[in-house]
Amino acid sequence: MVKIGNIELGEFPLLLAPMEDVSDPPFRQVCKENGADMMYTEFVSSEGLIRDAWKSKQKLDIFPYERPIGIQLFGSDVETMAECTRIAAAVNPDLIDINYGCPVKKVACKGAGAGLLQDIPRMVEMTKAVVDATDLPVTVKTRLGWNEETKNIEEVAERLQDVGIQALTIHGRTRAQLYKGEADWTLIAKIKNNPRIKIPIFGNGDIDSPEKALEYRNKYGVDGHMIGRAAIGYPWIFNEIKHFFATGEHLPPPTIRQRVEATKNHLKFSIEWKNERQGVLEMRRHYANYFRGLPHFKDYRMRLVQSLEPDELFSILDEVLAEFDGYFLEKIPKKVEYAGID
Ligand SMILES: Cc1cc2nc3c(=O)[nH]c(=O)nc-3n(C[C@H](O)[C@H](O)[C@H](O)COP(=O)(O)O)c2cc1C
Repeated sequence: MVKIGNIELGEFPLLLAPMEDVSDPPFRQVCKENGADMMYTEFVSSEGLIRDAWKSKQKLDIFPYERPIGIQLFGSDVETMAECTRIAAAVNPDLIDINYGCPVKKVACKGAGAGLLQDIPRMVEMTKAVVDATDLPVTVKTRLGWNEETKNIEEVAERLQDVGIQALTIHGRTRAQLYKGEADWTLIAKIKNNPRIKIPIFGNGDIDSPEKALEYRNKYGVDGHMIGRAAIGYPWIFNEIKHFFATGEHLPPPTIRQRVEATKNHLKFSIEWKNERQGVLEMRRHYANYFRGLPHFKDYRMRLVQSLEPDELFSILDEVLAEFDGYFLEKIPKKVEYAGID
């Protein structure tokens, strides 16, 4: 049984990765319904939160059915991070996560996110300040190191455990790699096998099918997987992996009806959570992902991303169902390309 503090996560938890502009409450709802064991908010800027910025505060919205859920914070100033930990803890998440993995220039090159991988003493100081600021468990998500020459994750893992983090998720790339190449899990396995390391180690990077999830589980011995891009437009991946682990067999892929239902639920929650206009606008980035691979979807997509009327959007989705009901779509959609935000 994997445990973080008192949070029991089962034998081999599947975590939904924190993803800016993606893993908001509407998206998390669809992932939770489809088997995500633990989820995180999008990263929350500590500078924003302390300024009372609306965008940062809105990211603190969490809902009871999402539990266990972690709020992820990032920042460059130790005191601000500690203060934000207190603000975030006040909304009562299950844990606080620190982002030491974001590679984006405006974050990493300003001493936040993956930038801390270049200054381990400050990373340790910041982590300790966050741990001391709350009774909640604190976890960390980071990368292998800043670049190929400075892969310091082994030192990072030991030192952060020593100041009290209760789980570590490692994305098997360096900051310099951004999202390029293939994630290298060998160092992740090395950390998991370090007898000094007692906290759960979660592997992250490129899990996009039940087969790969099983192969990496067996090969690298991690305590659970964190899944990001493969869940975008395909939240079914969590239950598919669980079923494959349990039975060695594949669940049937979602039908068009299920895809339409998930899309409608996502849209409905977006509107409820934000407001009609904002919810409709933010949903636009998701349609193509839910129907990836469907022939001639482009025309529907154009209509979906042009309309501002919820009723019209729901009826376009009904048209999609009417036209494609029974159509067999490939099991895992092409991986969503993420061009990087540098
Ligand atoms: C659109 C997008 C936004 C992301 N935002 C965050 C974030 O806010 N915090 C974070 O720790 N990682 C963020 N990441 C990184 C993911 O959490 C994850 O580490 C990465 O995508 C690799 O996992 P995957 O191959 O399963 O997608 C983001 C990734 C993507 C694609």
